[in-house]
Amino acid sequence: MNLPLDLDPQKIPQHLAIIMDGNGRWANSRGLPRIAGHRQGAKTLKEILRCCKDWGIKALTAYAFSTENWQRPIEEVDFLMLLFERLLRRELAEMHREGVRISFIGDLSALPPSLHTEIANSMAETAKNQEIHFTLAVNYGSRNEITRACYQIAELVEQGKLNAADINENLVEQHLYTANTPAPDLLIRTSGEMRLSNFLLWQMAYTEMYFTDIFWPDFNREALYKALLSYQQRDRRFGKVKPLLSA
Ligand code: IPE
Ligand code: IPE
Ligand code: MG
Repeated sequence: MNLPLDLDPQKIPQHLAIIMDGNGRWANSRGLPRIAGHRQGAKTLKEILRCCKDWGIKALTAYAFSTENWQRPIEEVDFLMLLFERLLRRELAEMHREGVRISFIGDLSALPPSLHTEIANSMAETAKNQEIHFTLAVNYGSRNEITRACYQIAELVEQGKLNAADINENLVEQHLYTANTPAPDLLIRTSGEMRLSNFLLWQMAYTEMYFTDIFWPDFNREALYKALLSYQQRDRRFGKVKPLLSA
């Protein structure tokens, strides 16, 4: 499906980040168990990934499970881990055919071994694909990510491989899970919550933010179109002063 006519193809975000929130409330409002919301949310993600690809967005990063989400009831956590694994198994071939490069960010070592294997396979198999870079944040938390980067850099200093004076923003960035990927241009959070919940804190220093009341399972192309329209009306100054237009 083509880009809607009133969107400017020159101003499409290169990298879109999404906090997919509201699955549980979507299910509750229908008298369904929370897991039904997660199942529906997975379908939404598939649809939105395809839409991003169609509209020329080159990277999509979606928050699927935070380091804090382990504190949910064990049944819900188990269901989510199983869902991620099943989805990967079921969707990998099609995503690969469509040129999707899949990455995962987060502390993957703490995930169930069978999921970990599926993740490693999908990343290796799709590593050379170029249509869209699709990243799922699983067991991801920014504070964990930044602490881990500090630890790795401290180790290098301790081993004499690096001087403290050489530590700069670029170096820190290279030790984040997102090393070598450009920062998100636009963040969308669904379900009416207006917070970051430990998502990409470093990377989103200059990201435009868009909040909508729609629960994630109800999010669709129309809702994405509205978010992009809002994004295209923003003036991204990055701390500078806008040059005056000459008369
Ligand atoms: C987002 O939906 C999905 C995950 C965090 C895994 P929620 O499960 O947080 O849904 P609400 O916020 O309880 O409605
Ligand atoms: C953030 O949503 C995490 C994901 C969407 C995976 P939460 O529902 O866990 O966030 P809080 O608890 O409302 O901040
Ligand atoms: Mg939530």
